[in-house]
Amino acid sequence: MTTAIIGTGGIGSAIARQLASGGETLRLSSADPASARTLAAQIGRAAVVAVDNRDAVQGADAVVLALRFTVLKGVIDEIAGPLTGQLVVVPSNPLTLDAHGSLSLVLPKGQSSGKVVAGWLPAGARLAMAFGTMSADLFESASNRSPQPAVLFYVTDDDRAGQEVERLIRAAGFEPVKAGGLEQSGRLEVGGDLHDLVVGPAEARSLIGGA
Ligand SMILES: NC(=O)c1ccc[n+]([C@@H]2O[C@H](COP(=O)([O-])OP(=O)(O)OC[C@H]3O[C@@H](n4cnc5c(N)ncnc54)[C@H](OP(=O)(O)O)[C@@H]3O)[C@@H](O)[C@H]2O)c1
Repeated sequence: MTTAIIGTGGIGSAIARQLASGGETLRLSSADPASARTLAAQIGRAAVVAVDNRDAVQGADAVVLALRFTVLKGVIDEIAGPLTGQLVVVPSNPLTLDAHGSLSLVLPKGQSSGKVVAGWLPAGARLAMAFGTMSADLFESASNRSPQPAVLFYVTDDDRAGQEVERLIRAAGFEPVKAGGLEQSGRLEVGGDLHDLVVGPAEARSLIGGA
């Protein structure tokens, strides 16, 4: 199946490599097309570079918006039409980096980023917050663990989105575990209790219940 990945920076490129290694074909776009072209060349035949963000979504079965939180709404507005009826996967953490390299929250503490993103999407788009639960390096090194796969947590309010994102998580080399609805997105983010954890399914399920 085909996934569009919009944003080919730190996490977008890691997601692209893992999905391609799991057999997914990819349509890539980025602000500077050279960035998507470089990644596509690394990945090989499984990846094509789209003309622009709207073109990336054409014919895709799922869309990953691997973008900084502060640019998400602008890109969603740009591609809103084609997002209707799509699975939309968002790994973004609601953080921004200042000129001194310090991270700060872009939402009031306690506000669910998943709910905020859901409010930006067109009716009919199905949202899962996923693939942003580990730093890019850890995400790649923890994939395809054997004999027991590591868990990748996700949240969604939509059962169909859950099934679809679980397929992508397995393709990327992880075992999917739902941590709850979108209101639980903070648990997956930097500073959340489920962030940057490499755990198997049994421990993951006990952690979810233990919040
Ligand atoms: N990096 C990580 O380890 C990591 C892990 C988990 C979650 N996250 C979260 O994931 C999000 C992205 O982080 P990142 O580290 O991947 O950021 P990044 O390295 O800055 O990459 C952002 C990507 O977005 C692209 N972009 C910006 N504006 C765009 C637009 N209008 N249309 C299309 N593409 C656009 C950039 O294009 P260009 O390449 O052309 O500039 C770049 O490829 C953040 O919210 C972060 O908190 C990151």
